[in-house]
Amino acid sequence: MTQLPGLLDTEALRKDFPILDRVLHDGKKLVYLDNAATSQTPRQVIDAVSEYYERHNANVHRGVHVLAEEATALYEGARDKVAAFINAPSRDEVIFTKNASESLNLVANMLGWADEPYRVDQDTEIVITEMEHHSNIVPWQLLSQRTGAKLKWFGLTDDGRLDLSKIDEIITEKTKIVSFTLVSNIMGTVNPVEAIVRRAQDVGALVLIDASQAAPHMPLDVQALQADFVAFTGHKMCGPTGIGVLWGRQELLEDLPPFLGGGEMIETVSMSSSTYAPAPHKFEAGTPPIAQAVGLGAAVDYLTSIGMENIARHEHAITEYAVRRLQEVPGLRIIGPVTAEDRGAAISFVLGDIHPHDVGQVLDEQGIAVRVGHHCARPVCLRYGIPATTRASFYLYSTPAEVDALVEGLEHVRNFFG
Ligand code: ALA
Repeated sequence: MTQLPGLLDTEALRKDFPILDRVLHDGKKLVYLDNAATSQTPRQVIDAVSEYYERHNANVHRGVHVLAEEATALYEGARDKVAAFINAPSRDEVIFTKNASESLNLVANMLGWADEPYRVDQDTEIVITEMEHHSNIVPWQLLSQRTGAKLKWFGLTDDGRLDLSKIDEIITEKTKIVSFTLVSNIMGTVNPVEAIVRRAQDVGALVLIDASQAAPHMPLDVQALQADFVAFTGHKMCGPTGIGVLWGRQELLEDLPPFLGGGEMIETVSMSSSTYAPAPHKFEAGTPPIAQAVGLGAAVDYLTSIGMENIARHEHAITEYAVRRLQEVPGLRIIGPVTAEDRGAAISFVLGDIHPHDVGQVLDEQGIAVRVGHHCARPVCLRYGIPATTRASFYLYSTPAEVDALVEGLEHVRNFFG
């Protein structure tokens, strides 16, 4: 068995994930390499959600009965855990949403309706990048169409990194917000946060970081990032679906208007007007995803017990091995960085002229789960002149043997298509 320095004890860890024992068609053992789409769920998280429904289920912040108080304590306890996980200065800066897309849309809408100095209007500019997930492109296109603000973006270099050579022309005195991903979901590129944040701060622009592909994989410290907002989702970090997070600086959350109106986000309501609760409740209208937040809290406990530095080290070793082994496959071209430095554990590639959907189907027949398509990052495919990619993405339970299985699987693909 291949041994690499820095690996976690995956034999022990994998026992926490019942789904990884699944045997698929023809007795093929599941090789799950679609972690950038969604991660698998450990027993500890499944149990926390089950126990919530079996013992504590009630609505939060509303009742005076025992269950309502327990549910509220669990929900708010999850907020404390997430705040500590990302080193937020205050728990009130952690807003629960349904996913990262909602977190990003929330900021775009807040800014569209904000007063000066935050308002985005026809005299201002919005900056994104060509490697964003659609969820960090479309909300800004909508805001631009609604307000007349100009949408600008950083392009990409041939090796899958951001082209920052014109940073002073792209981020200008007119820029209101710079919104970019910390780690590309399609190419795995880790972006140079510091350079972008410094320029944004120089011109007084706000910064929103999409950390969906970072929070599960590396220590995340919102204070060190020096951004104004950070968005991520629970289901990519061992948590349930239906729960996302938006972290925002407290003074901004106090100043900015809500997006959704409804129960629990108010202070008082009359027939002609309302006043709003302080953050985070101002941004959590209606019954929130309570069980999902509890599950996310358990996921945070789980990841913390392993240690995010240890997870990052494990994934770096697996990624380095995978980048090397994949490049041995004849005709395979990695789309994105071909080193293991400054890259995450999502690796996209094309295999000769075999369509990625065919690659994915033949791999699936061997029990290997990858994602194929444009990965909700179609501008990246357009930039590199390809219709789609095959993406293998790794996590804390991934093993070198699974990388070997992928490489062998790709040999089958090549043989199958001649
Ligand atoms: N955002 C997820 C992915 O990149 C769905 O696959």
